[in-house]
Amino acid sequence: MIGKLNHVAIVVPDLEKAVATYRDILGATVSEPMDLPDHGVTTVFVELPNTKIELLLPLGENSPIARFLEKNPAGGMHHVCYEVEDIFAARNKLVGAGARILGDGEPKNGAHNKPVLFLHPKDFCGTLVELEQV
Ligand code: CO
Repeated sequence: MIGKLNHVAIVVPDLEKAVATYRDILGATVSEPMDLPDHGVTTVFVELPNTKIELLLPLGENSPIARFLEKNPAGGMHHVCYEVEDIFAARNKLVGAGARILGDGEPKNGAHNKPVLFLHPKDFCGTLVELEQV
């Protein structure tokens, strides 16, 4: 059901420093920062030949990643995103298998303006999983 790895997301305490690390030290191509107020994050995408790294900085007071950064002050890996062809079919199959979908269970538009869902880490090997319809 899942297809390509779309991105790996890393929460960072200092976005400029993270950009400099990926751009200047690791030599990757990075995007301009983009504020996503609906999601409570500022994102930068690092383009790799086979996937992307999504650098995430909390935005606003109720950012869903603020607590993660409190627990991991140096930052850390936050989620992996797999591509699916049909997010509703994927959701129904997962719910049928007893997996928990975060939030109200309905797909929302994500950072690429495509529908996404997040799956409970306890059902997926301790890793927060994002599904994105491509
Ligand atoms: Co993501």
